[in-house]
Amino acid sequence: MSATQLVERAESVARRVVETAQTATDLESLREIERTASDELAAVKTGIGSVEGADRSTVGKALAAAQATIAEVVGERRAVISAAASASQLAAERLDLTALGNGSLRGHLHPVTQVWRELEDIFCGLGYQVHEGPEVEDDWHNFEALNFPPGHPARAMQDTLYVNLGEPEQVLLRTHTSPMQIRLMETQEPPIYAIIPGRTFRRDTPDARHSPVFHQIECLVIDRDVTMGDLMGTIEVFFRALFGDVESRFLPSYFPFTEPSAELAVSCPFCEKTGCRTCSHTGWIELGGCGMVDPNVLQACNLDPEEWSGFAFGFGIDRIPLLRNQIDSLQTLLWDNDLRFLRQS
Ligand code: PHE
Repeated sequence: MSATQLVERAESVARRVVETAQTATDLESLREIERTASDELAAVKTGIGSVEGADRSTVGKALAAAQATIAEVVGERRAVISAAASASQLAAERLDLTALGNGSLRGHLHPVTQVWRELEDIFCGLGYQVHEGPEVEDDWHNFEALNFPPGHPARAMQDTLYVNLGEPEQVLLRTHTSPMQIRLMETQEPPIYAIIPGRTFRRDTPDARHSPVFHQIECLVIDRDVTMGDLMGTIEVFFRALFGDVESRFLPSYFPFTEPSAELAVSCPFCEKTGCRTCSHTGWIELGGCGMVDPNVLQACNLDPEEWSGFAFGFGIDRIPLLRNQIDSLQTLLWDNDLRFLRQS
């Protein structure tokens, strides 16, 4: 072969490698392309021996250039193939460590907290303010200002837990949320439209229906010319928001801080008053107490009973999630924190 033919041969081998290397998708076929090219260039090299001395360096340079081009192109292509291979290997070997994190075990609020917030939403919608108050109270707010004088028999009904602070029997864990009626009237100018959800305490031995710690929600309205009709209408509205199509019932009762007072019940949402286990076959579920704010209470808070009137009601929150789930008031289920139970709510 002539020097010119050898140079062309070297260049064409390099050109072919430039084209074909791009099509190689694995290292083995790339190696095959490289091997064929190097065999062909070896033939060119052998050919150098048969050309004139002056042409040898021309062919030699063309050969070196072809080798350099091939090395570069093959090197680049090898890097691309290796990167793709290790990426697909990584993808194949990927460990799914999200096995328990697929969202099905996301927590949720405790059933009592859910109802607590729902109650707040209902009353905010009616234009009420939400307040919270201290769980450790004094005798004045929990009893005295609420018209329970010392020695009053109704105090005994409250099974108070006293705190060893200050004068004996003066500091206590609030037995109801009603002391917040006093705190609001002491600090705010009427009109007052407020609800106060909170934790309350009584000296009870825990059993299926009792717990020394429980939750109440208090409602207080102080305005001019407030009537018992306003109280009943308000209760009706929020019972319906909470339970759907139900009725409310008021039976005469007694609380020192309301006059007249009534016991507050809702028609059983499960049996439509025909009687079932949830309502102990009475058709009604008792939820709490209510009444018109006693003039003595207004006076204790320096409000003139001739000018201001109001109503209040208070009831336990804890029964509500149970009622809604048709559970027979087994409050312990709420506090045992058995997730198998809580997750269903
Ligand atoms: N505080 C009373 C209780 O715990 C309920 C109540 C609140 C009654 C407001 C009348 C008015 O039993």
